[in-house]
Order: sequence, then C-alpha cells, then structure tokens
Amino acid sequence: MSDKHANPGDAVDADAVRRFRRLVIVTAVASFLLVILGGVVRVVDAGLGCGPEAAGLSGWPLCDGQLVPNVDTHSVVEYSHRILAAIVVVLLLAVLWQTVRQFRDRPALRRWAFGAVLLVFGQAVLGGLTVEYGLHSGFVAAHLGTAMALLAILMVIYSIAGPRRPDPGAGKGLIAVASVACLLLLSTIVAGGVIAGTEKHGTPDGHTITGAHYACGQQFPTCNNEFLPFGRGEMTDIQLTHRVLMFFASLAIATLAVMLLRRRLNGRIPVVILVVLGVQVLLGAVNVWADESALLVLAHLTTGSALWMLVAGVLISLLNPGTMPDRERAGPTAPDAGTAAAGASPA
Ligand code: HEM
Repeated sequence: MSDKHANPGDAVDADAVRRFRRLVIVTAVASFLLVILGGVVRVVDAGLGCGPEAAGLSGWPLCDGQLVPNVDTHSVVEYSHRILAAIVVVLLLAVLWQTVRQFRDRPALRRWAFGAVLLVFGQAVLGGLTVEYGLHSGFVAAHLGTAMALLAILMVIYSIAGPRRPDPGAGKGLIAVASVACLLLLSTIVAGGVIAGTEKHGTPDGHTITGAHYACGQQFPTCNNEFLPFGRGEMTDIQLTHRVLMFFASLAIATLAVMLLRRRLNGRIPVVILVVLGVQVLLGAVNVWADESALLVLAHLTTGSALWMLVAGVLISLLNPGTMPDRERAGPTAPDAGTAAAGASPA
C-alpha cells in the first residue's frame, strides 16, 4: 500500500522510502562482505594474484594483462574481490540516483550519497595503489579505514532516510563519549590494518619477512616479557600501537555501553556491543597466542568490522538524523524507525 505524501509538495511516499532503505541495506551488506573478501584476498596470498607490484594497468584494472584472468586460485580470489567491488559501485550509483530522482527535497541525503560514491572511487584508486606498491602497509591500512568510513556513511544515509524519531535525549556527554569511542575504534582498526600490511602476504617476501604480527612473540598482554616496551624496533612499535589504541577504545566502548544501559537507550544493543568487544579482544589475543591461522585473522577482521558498525550505529542513532515527516512515521505501513542499520531503537 502506498502511503502518499506526508506534506503537500513532498513527492516521496512511504513505499518508496522503504524500497530505498532496503537498497541501502543491500549495499551495506555487500560492502561489509567486500571488506571480508578483501581480508580473504590478503590471507590466501592473492593480493598480487593479478600481477606483481609495478605491473601498471596490466595488474589493475586488468588481471595479468587480461580482462578475464587465467583460472588459478589466486587470480580467481583477487578477481572475485574486484567483481564484488564493481557490484558495490553499481549499488552506490543506484543509491545516488534514487536520492537525485526521488528525494529532491532532501539535499542532505543527496550529499551523503554523493560522498559515498566519491569515497568508493577513492577506495578503488587506493586498491590499485595497494597492488601497484606491493601491498605497502600504509595503503592496506588506508584501504581498511576508507571501507569503515563507507559503512558508516551508508548507515547515516539509512538513518536520514528514516522517520524523525522522538529525541532520544542522549545529551552532550553521551554523544561525546560515543564520538570518542568511534574515533578510538577506527584508529584501532587502521592500526590493525598496518600490522596486517607488514605481513606482506602474497608478495615475494611474504614467506621470509617477519612482520608485526609476532613482534611481541606469542605474548599478550605482555610483549617479549615486558609491558608495552616501546622503542625496541619498528615492528614492535606497530604491534604495541594497536594494543594501546585497543585499550583506550575498549575503555571508551565499555563506558558508552554502560551509559546506554543506565539510560535504557538502544535496547539490547549495548549488551551486544559488550559481548562483541569481548570476543574481538579474545580473538586478537588468540591471534598472538596461537600459530598464525588465516581463519583467526579473518574472524578478527569480521568481528572488528561488526563492532565498528555497532558503535558507529549507536552514535548515528544518538544524533538522530531521521528526516521523514512525522505523518509518514504514523502511517500504518510506515517503516520501522527503531531498527536502523545501527540496530538503534528509540528510547
Ligand atoms: C577493540 C579490539 C580490536 C579491534 C577493533 C581490532 C581490529 C583489528 C583489525 C581490523 C585488524 C586488521 C585485520 C586484517 O586486515 O586482516 C587487526 C589486526 C590484528 N590485530 Fe587486532 N583488534 C583488536 C584487538 C586486538 C588485540 C587485543 C590483539 C592482541 C594483541 C590484536 C592483535 C592483532 C594482530 C596480531 C593483527 C594482525 C593480523 C594479521 O596478521 O593480519 N588485536 N585488528
């Protein structure tokens, strides 16, 4: 049923909004899978599966100089990542197109969608540079950070396209804690990307080089029998930076979750956040305690990305940027405001 026009002159009906938000969810899920597939590319040593570093255009956007690569596991994995990336680009262009066509009166929505498209093209260039520069750890980390930004923007778009909800009454203090938690978590994730990049999986050096993964031996929270021994070498410092950021991020996230619980905001999400945080820290520790395992690295990446979506989603829900007029929310077929991609539910 089409629940037409909340305001005179408002050309958007509730069904169109629902369809648009569904498209945004599909795009966010595809982007999330793309991050994980990016991890698979790295851990199965397929980062240079389409050609060595400095292979120019024959390594990216082509694969071994061809549009369709020869069938070998590495190039197939690397190529699947590119195909999924192309699907994400098409989905994002569809999101942008919808904001231009259907939501002319919501410039904020259009701006965010345009930002997402720009970001994904930047992401594609970064991906190309990552291959061209032999999986340099800086590019690997920047590629991961940009992917997290894209996921956050998609959640903002989902939220803005949703109904204006009652003010959750978060207050400046809670919003500040949520912002700090997001910033520290993003920094932890990017620092994790730097560690991953130093492993040089898939490069000619990958099997001989000692990256930052085991720079502390197989110890956590200690590091080579000391606690946070900064200044003993680049790889140790890289490993320790990830740990220090993780300590502060965990503190900020736990504080945020407790504040949300005390104010009865966001339903069960704070509990989910605490559980996912605990699992993520444990997975990080097991990554160090155990012998190197592709599955453990991938599990750590997946849970870390999920934690990011939860925490960033909470911040977005607290900022409450829903823009749909109230009458659409009140309609019998109105979309559910409480289940934003963030998992945010109104107070
Ligand atoms: C809030 C908690 C944490 C978050 C959000 C987080 C996030 C990440 C991310 C996103 C990566 C990059 C994964 C990839 O691209 O494959 C990473 C890598 C890594 N993290 Fe964490 N991490 C956390 C806690 C920990 C802890 C407690 C440790 C224990 C020392 C740890 C050790 C590692 C190691 C060794 C890697 C490199 C894995 C590889 O070789 O690819 N992490 N982390």
